[in-house]
Amino acid sequence: MPAGTSLPDRPPFVLRARLLTPLTGGGTGYLRDGALAVDATGRIEAVTDWEAWARAATTAGRRSDAEAMLSAVVDLRPLVVLPGLVDLHVHLPQLPNAGVGAGLDLLTWLGRYIFPLEAEFDAATAERVAPAAFRAMAAAGTTTAMMYGAVFEPSLDIAFRAAETHGIRAIIGKVMMDRLTYDDRLPADRILELSLRQSADLCSRWNGRDDGRLQYAFTPRFAVSCTADMLRESAALARQTGAYWQTHLSEDVHEIREVARLFPDAVDYVDVYDRAGGLGPRTVLAHAIHLSDREVARIAETDTALAHCPASNLFLASGAMPLARYLAAGIRVGLGSDVAAGPELSLFANMRAGAYVMNGLRVLEGDDAPGPLVPSEWLRIGTLDGARALGLDERIGSLEVGKEADLIVIDPRMVAPIPGIDSDDPDEIVSRLAFRPHPAMVRGAWVRGRRLDGPPGTEALDG
Ligand code: GUN
Ligand code: ZN
Repeated sequence: MPAGTSLPDRPPFVLRARLLTPLTGGGTGYLRDGALAVDATGRIEAVTDWEAWARAATTAGRRSDAEAMLSAVVDLRPLVVLPGLVDLHVHLPQLPNAGVGAGLDLLTWLGRYIFPLEAEFDAATAERVAPAAFRAMAAAGTTTAMMYGAVFEPSLDIAFRAAETHGIRAIIGKVMMDRLTYDDRLPADRILELSLRQSADLCSRWNGRDDGRLQYAFTPRFAVSCTADMLRESAALARQTGAYWQTHLSEDVHEIREVARLFPDAVDYVDVYDRAGGLGPRTVLAHAIHLSDREVARIAETDTALAHCPASNLFLASGAMPLARYLAAGIRVGLGSDVAAGPELSLFANMRAGAYVMNGLRVLEGDDAPGPLVPSEWLRIGTLDGARALGLDERIGSLEVGKEADLIVIDPRMVAPIPGIDSDDPDEIVSRLAFRPHPAMVRGAWVRGRRLDGPPGTEALDG
């Protein structure tokens, strides 16, 4: 990378770099010396070997055009360009308490560290936290995030506005709780109606903004905090509006017991959401750790998507989600950082946690347990599969022609065990990113070719 190289802020541009991506047709694409061209609308126009691109540029059109094309190239070698990561599950107001409360069980942790924090997520707090959170997400390599807000409507408008300005691709929802709530300002008999109305209003203001970059998710917190009416009515709103529906499922054994007590007519936890009309392709359920065969079959049948949150599941000792079993059932699964139950925003850290969970299951279960995923499969789960879980895989999730240019650029030298160690094997590259991450290894991030604030850029690497 030549000294003084700075990253492009706006499309169009051409990056010369190592390119690493899952491919829609299966497998992984890797170009050691690649060209990635982004057109003026922010779409990927070419992903090709550098020599081929340069030859085409110099033979096509007039000489002055060719010179202009070549002069627009930003040479980032030996950095690696990857698709931006897709975080399917993160709590915006919880970021300040990330890393606090390890080992508590879910319901104790919520009561001690989370509900009091979310209760303070007023407009002023949202103004302070949301822009910082989006910068931190971009610095971690996340270009798409599906988020929970708090229960307060004004804080959601502020969060959406901050996402609109920052440029991240964001799906956000006001948390809905009509029992076991921290919102003591509303009369109990009005919470249901107000929560539905405020959520519908937020959806009408924000869902689909900026050509779909911002979307709304109706967000009943979980069955412990919601009556059957809240679950059913919120699912109906999601269906009517085409917005997403997100909630937590089967994370912790005490939670599951409480759900069984609150919903005695339901067959199991999945059935609580099924009866509410909540299952389906626009639904993302987080955790889903302790499921029966019946529940797995029902999630697969309804094409409901799951957010796998392995770091969170270890942090709160919630359990080991059997990922291989769900993938074998054909369920769409992506990764969720689940901050603050997950201590870090990084999905690379979650690839590592997920891999350790699979290894742990193999240690416990022996050779009959499913084999590990290779690192490039974890990259797929954190990018293209996350996009597929959201129904966005035709737009984002991989470096392929026609997709929107949601990209990150990483410096693999920062994760080398000693200087000079390098690799051109995609699995080895991703393996070091996941297992030896450096907090500053993501140098740049773009959504639709527009650079996001957060990552430090490349100037600091010169020399
Ligand atoms: N279940 C209900 N609310 C929450 C939350 O905020 N975090 C996690 N991890 N699980 C939940
Ligand atoms: Zn969560």
